[in-house]
Amino acid sequence: MRTQLTSEYLSKFETGMLTVLAADTTTSKDAAAKPAPVLLAADHVVKEAAQAVLADGEFRAAANETLLIHAPAGLATKRLLVVGLGKQAKIAVNGVRNAAGTAIRFAKLRGIREVALALPAGVEISRERALRAAVEGAILGDFDPDTYRSDRPDRTIASFTLAVDAGEDKQALEGAMDEGVIAGESQNLARSLVNEPGNKLTPTVLGQRAAAMAAETGLHCEVHSTEKIQQLKMGAFWGVSQGSAEPPAMIVLRYEPEGVAGGPVLGLVGKGITFDAGGISIKSAAHMDRMKDDMAGAAAMIGAMRSIALLRPKVRVIAVICAAENMPGGKAQKPGDVQTAMSGKTIEIINTDAEGRLVLADGLTYARQLGATHLIDAATLTGACIQALASVYAGILANDEPIYEKFQTALQRSGEKFWRLPLDEEFADMMKSDIADIKNSAGDNGDASTAAELLRLFVGDTPWIHLDIAGVSWAEEDKPYFANGPTGFAVRSIVEWVRSYSQVTKGL
Ligand code: BES
Ligand code: MN
Ligand code: ZN
Repeated sequence: MRTQLTSEYLSKFETGMLTVLAADTTTSKDAAAKPAPVLLAADHVVKEAAQAVLADGEFRAAANETLLIHAPAGLATKRLLVVGLGKQAKIAVNGVRNAAGTAIRFAKLRGIREVALALPAGVEISRERALRAAVEGAILGDFDPDTYRSDRPDRTIASFTLAVDAGEDKQALEGAMDEGVIAGESQNLARSLVNEPGNKLTPTVLGQRAAAMAAETGLHCEVHSTEKIQQLKMGAFWGVSQGSAEPPAMIVLRYEPEGVAGGPVLGLVGKGITFDAGGISIKSAAHMDRMKDDMAGAAAMIGAMRSIALLRPKVRVIAVICAAENMPGGKAQKPGDVQTAMSGKTIEIINTDAEGRLVLADGLTYARQLGATHLIDAATLTGACIQALASVYAGILANDEPIYEKFQTALQRSGEKFWRLPLDEEFADMMKSDIADIKNSAGDNGDASTAAELLRLFVGDTPWIHLDIAGVSWAEEDKPYFANGPTGFAVRSIVEWVRSYSQVTKGL
């Protein structure tokens, strides 16, 4: 999909489908109230073309509601699509992102190859932010998970054109467009990795994919396997991997911009379980297929590193990704086993299905050894987090207020929803073992917190945030603007968080 700007008159712009946005001006909560949509376009010819049908009362302009007008009077476009943004008083940048995705998915299903969108007029969102979000939404909307279908229909969108006004700052808008392309494509990279089945994306293949991304974007990349993991005495990581015929991969990506002396080194650690069968504590068959997405934390970090490499913030970043398969087998670790982590801490394995915290424990230790001064990890870590927050919020836990606040600010830019869950000494007490320093599971109750307490033992006093994305990494249902399947959740927030440490702040 080619993305471009035009400042041609909207009415004269020739395209397959021109999209304009509309708001619902009714204020009552009454769903039966007479619809009162208003078109968010300044062009009077476009307004006239849509006027009759908008006055008809069949279109409310609810969020992502669509209305198609063929051969609109007085316009050069073949079709005019009106997409609702919902209540006028609540219009926000997220709505623009979604509306652009809705337009793209609407076009895809109907074989329309050229899509244009007019940035909404008269809304309190900066033009750059609206444009960037629209580009992100369009690229995210363009993703479909049906990669292995032999009769996969060709639904390519050739071009997505953003219509802006002639008098606007083209350079600023082009910058916003480029950022939107980077953000959308990086999130889609994460989605495509999560989408891959376990037989196609082994730890080794994940390493190859990360290395290919690094080669394209100029990042430094090393992929290590069994030998190095054993040499570093990563007993927790290796213990998870030892039951699989597939060797593990520890992927280290480095972004080292020139002219950044001193300052923070951000350490990004990702859980990369390419398939989580549970190990000897094997999972039940129901939904086990979903456990191919247990590397979504790793994918989020790979996607984020791609964005970082292309956006070039002035801050050093290291990613450590721990990839392994968690399988039962003759060599697999067993409940009751004791493993010694890289840090020297001993861990009693109560449940081999609580494997994510084990690989992350060694990943966090290694990131600190490589010089990370601030840590963030992302992991599809616990079913307990899903119990608490469903797929509505991701969980976030932090050992330090300033780093947490930075992430909160990043969320205002990314539009993603996280909810803070507690760390507490009493959760840590639940993880005490009779035989070793700690155990890897205290059962299901409160496990989003107890799992994080295990991780906390490996970060020392380094400021750290932990993102539990178990509930949000995979969407069961299609949205008008977003296909079901892998979501690429957290990529945008992690990137915005990293940018907030840039010594020269740049961007929107
Ligand atoms: N990868 C799972 C967590 C998960 C579960 C993600 C469901 C997405 C959907 C993790 O490795 C796991 O199995 N956790 C166990 C921990 C338990 C044994 C303490 C869980 O949550 O059941
Ligand atoms: Mn598990
Ligand atoms: Zn897992």
